[in-house]
Amino acid sequence: MECVNAMNKSTWDAGRNALALSKSERRMMNKVRDKRILVTGAAGFIGAHVVRRLLEDGFEVVGVDNLNNYYDPRLKDARLRKLCIGPRFWFFPLDLADKERVESLFHDGEFEAVVHLAAQAGIRHSLTSPDEYVASNLVGFVNVLEGVRACTCRHFVFASSSSVYGSYNKIPFAEEDSTDYPVSLYGATKKSNEVMAHAYSHLFHIPTTGLRFFTVYGPWGRPDMAVFKFVDAVMGGRIIELYNFGRLQRDFTFVDDIVEGIVRLLPLPPNWDGKQGPGAQAPMRLCNIGNQQPVQLLHLVRTIESCLGKTAYIRLMPMQPGDVYETQARVDKLKEITGYSPHVSIEDGIGRFVAWYLGEYLPLGLTESPQFPLPLPVQSVHQNAPASIAGEG
Ligand SMILES: NC(=O)c1ccc[n+]([C@@H]2O[C@H](COP(=O)([O-])OP(=O)(O)OC[C@H]3O[C@@H](n4cnc5c(N)ncnc54)[C@H](O)[C@@H]3O)[C@@H](O)[C@H]2O)c1
Repeated sequence: MECVNAMNKSTWDAGRNALALSKSERRMMNKVRDKRILVTGAAGFIGAHVVRRLLEDGFEVVGVDNLNNYYDPRLKDARLRKLCIGPRFWFFPLDLADKERVESLFHDGEFEAVVHLAAQAGIRHSLTSPDEYVASNLVGFVNVLEGVRACTCRHFVFASSSSVYGSYNKIPFAEEDSTDYPVSLYGATKKSNEVMAHAYSHLFHIPTTGLRFFTVYGPWGRPDMAVFKFVDAVMGGRIIELYNFGRLQRDFTFVDDIVEGIVRLLPLPPNWDGKQGPGAQAPMRLCNIGNQQPVQLLHLVRTIESCLGKTAYIRLMPMQPGDVYETQARVDKLKEITGYSPHVSIEDGIGRFVAWYLGEYLPLGLTESPQFPLPLPVQSVHQNAPASIAGEG
């Protein structure tokens, strides 16, 4: 597999179809294999932030991503160039559903830890494009598990989601609550990841942590998510539709808080009790990672207005069937393990998002594209459609 440094565009393009590391690249990577971490979904929103932080902390990072076009891939490209720059970062354009290439990646890699963030995200999209979720979140996930099984990775950390709680309505959500009834295919694939990871952890003693993320936002965020869509709508003078008359609450979590949780967890894998067989405890845990401070959507919009100095056009709508009133994480478990819980307030976080949006995102010129945002399914979202909360995850 050819390795591509994020700085070098022509090499990167050439690497898209490559199958194996060249000898010189393998030599170079082997020199620095101490503290080498694999980040999947490295060009994604959370992945690029994780890569940046790991590089700052002195790790060697290998990033993979298939750069799919669920949303504008130029944003992924820009993230890699801005956040993942450095001689200790190696990028491989790779589809995790491609078993052979994933085998080759793990064979060549010798990763100390794996942070698996690549997935087909988004709840709405899973209603009309189930195959993409099966390929990335199920087939890709098993391929990664097989890779982790074959290497000497000391900690496998993967992204789950608050979506596993479905319409469970005891607030706040705690890890031991029922997750047997997800209400979207996306949520079902995340639940599947948790149980498949448990089986591998049990069988092969792989130290594993699954993190249930709660509505992550921040600079370099995803254009299909509420904060980005609402800011776009206010800037473009478009209507924002708020269901349940704006009284839905979401536990918005700033991306730096998520990253801090991940980097603190990495050196703290769950221990294996050394027992084997059916009654043995797998070295695996699941942890919520959320802000514990649910925010009403109306308050979110008012905060955006005040940061932008512009008025939003709001249409208050009744509750939609299938929607959940509130999400809120209980993060005591994460705090107990790492000593850390997220703390960035919505006012601070939105201020930082808006500063990025105005100062870095708009100058990229991506909003000029006729192709994006890509049509999202269900009551199709087009350029002038109202912005609403659906599609998180
Ligand atoms: N952002 C949130 O609020 C949130 C909430 C809950 C869970 N999550 C989970 O966190 C992880 C990261 O989410 P994100 O918000 O950064 O999303 P993202 O879409 O920005 O990042 C995911 C990346 O994975 C890549 N990818 C998808 N399928 C792939 C495949 N088959 N092979 C290789 N790369 C592939 C995509 O190109 C993308 O760059 C995902 O697993 C997501 O489900 C995110």
